[in-house]
Amino acid sequence: MKKVLITGATSGIGRELALQYAALGHRVALVGRREEKLVALKEEIGDLAYIHPLDVTDFNEAQRVYQHLIDEMGGMDIMILNAGVGIAKMLPPWRADKNTIEVNVVAFAHGAHFAFDYFTKQGHGQIVGMSSLAAHLAIGSAAAYTASKHFISNYMIGFRQKAKHVDADIHITDIRPGFVKSEMTARGRNMFWVAETDKAVQQMIKAIQNKRKVVYITKRWRLVALLVKCVPQFVWDRI
Ligand SMILES: NC(=O)c1ccc[n+]([C@@H]2O[C@H](COP(=O)([O-])OP(=O)(O)OC[C@H]3O[C@@H](n4cnc5c(N)ncnc54)[C@H](OP(=O)(O)O)[C@@H]3O)[C@@H](O)[C@H]2O)c1
Repeated sequence: MKKVLITGATSGIGRELALQYAALGHRVALVGRREEKLVALKEEIGDLAYIHPLDVTDFNEAQRVYQHLIDEMGGMDIMILNAGVGIAKMLPPWRADKNTIEVNVVAFAHGAHFAFDYFTKQGHGQIVGMSSLAAHLAIGSAAAYTASKHFISNYMIGFRQKAKHVDADIHITDIRPGFVKSEMTARGRNMFWVAETDKAVQQMIKAIQNKRKVVYITKRWRLVALLVKCVPQFVWDRI
């Protein structure tokens, strides 16, 4: 039985991760801002779920809540940094980009440091970061979002290197979904190959179990990533 802490568990991918991990008999510690969603999830999962409302951008509180949930759960083997926001608008107000950067970049980095320190002391563990195919893109209507996912994937490469310099068995898994049904994509337009949440999360859990370094969800998005990597800079500048 693994002990898994999941951020952004109140909806979409995070909620489905919680349900599927619990169905496999693992303990799950779940955070998100919407307390009523956490309470409903706890009622659905039962004793294997440990919940606490949290805004991940409140770093002092996040530190306290992560540790509190780990103590309640009796340890932690995997920390899934899934909480994320993104809006698609060509001219978003600054506060929208600021919020994206605070959640997807700064709170992600804070969570990664928390997990790394915890797993270093423990001697083992796995950090999972919810990046995106957007880690390969540059899109004007989602500039902060695509840039934030570049950060996440690149940051995880750095943490994989850091892990070699500590006396601990730490694995880093970078998950890069294409489109998956969730609250975030419910607002989106011009989407294709949108995966059902349960199918996408099954593939994520398998990749985490296999300690994959990088995985595209669903698998066909790997081909898109390979193609996108060949797009020269002048093309991005003209889009
Ligand atoms: N769906 C896709 O197609 C897709 C593709 C690529 C990557 N992703 C990534 O997958 C992750 C999950 O997104 P989703 O698609 O499942 O969307 P979602 O249904 O909107 O879920 C986002 C989650 O993040 C949480 N969150 C947002 N701001 C937060 C904050 N300040 N503090 C704590 N939690 C916060 C939300 O909880 P509260 O609102 O309750 O706080 C919610 O649980 C994101 O990182 C997203 O970028 C999704």
